[in-house]
Amino acid sequence: MPEISSQQLQAAVAEVAPLQLPNDRQLVMRVMPMPADANGNGDIFGGWIMAQVDLAGAVLPARIAKGRIATVAVNEFVFKQPVSMGDLLSFYARVERIGRTSITVNIEVFAERNPADLHVVKVTEANVTYVAIDASGRPRPLSGS
Ligand SMILES: CC(C)(COP(=O)(O)OP(=O)(O)OC[C@H]1O[C@@H](n2cnc3c(N)ncnc32)[C@H](O)[C@@H]1OP(=O)(O)O)[C@@H](O)C(=O)NCCC(=O)NCCS
Repeated sequence: MPEISSQQLQAAVAEVAPLQLPNDRQLVMRVMPMPADANGNGDIFGGWIMAQVDLAGAVLPARIAKGRIATVAVNEFVFKQPVSMGDLLSFYARVERIGRTSITVNIEVFAERNPADLHVVKVTEANVTYVAIDASGRPRPLSGS
């Protein structure tokens, strides 16, 4: 059997699973919800998605702050589409603002669904602000501020 190069393999995967995921922001987390994360309608509970967004949003601020951070504010949170069991969720983040002690991140969440006819849906978007904190939990200036 002839050997397949990684380029050929990627092309084959792209053909069967065309994705429209963003390339202007960083993938910070991927997760698939479980039955325990569903609400009474069988869709995924909004609070679970908010918790995942908080975790995913912290990735870039934690790198920038090089230490402890705390979530200070969720300034916008939009559930654009319901999330269903079996959706693979991808969290993409972009730093919007770096202040003296705070970092604000925009997070977009995309669901890859229906493996038989794969498509990608933007399900959630949020702006979350994190503050660098010291050992006592007080705001700590970011290096360079
Ligand atoms: C985060 C915390 C240490 C900030 O302390 P604070 O005394 O409110 O700090 P400040 O008022 O000096 O604000 C610190 C930064 O947060 C920003 N900030 C405060 N409230 C904000 C809001 N509602 N939206 C956006 N940014 C906000 C300020 O603008 C400031 O940013 P800058 O230094 O870059 O200009 C404190 O509020 C806290 O401990 N909160 C609980 C955090 C937590 O437990 N989170 C987990 C969820 S429960």
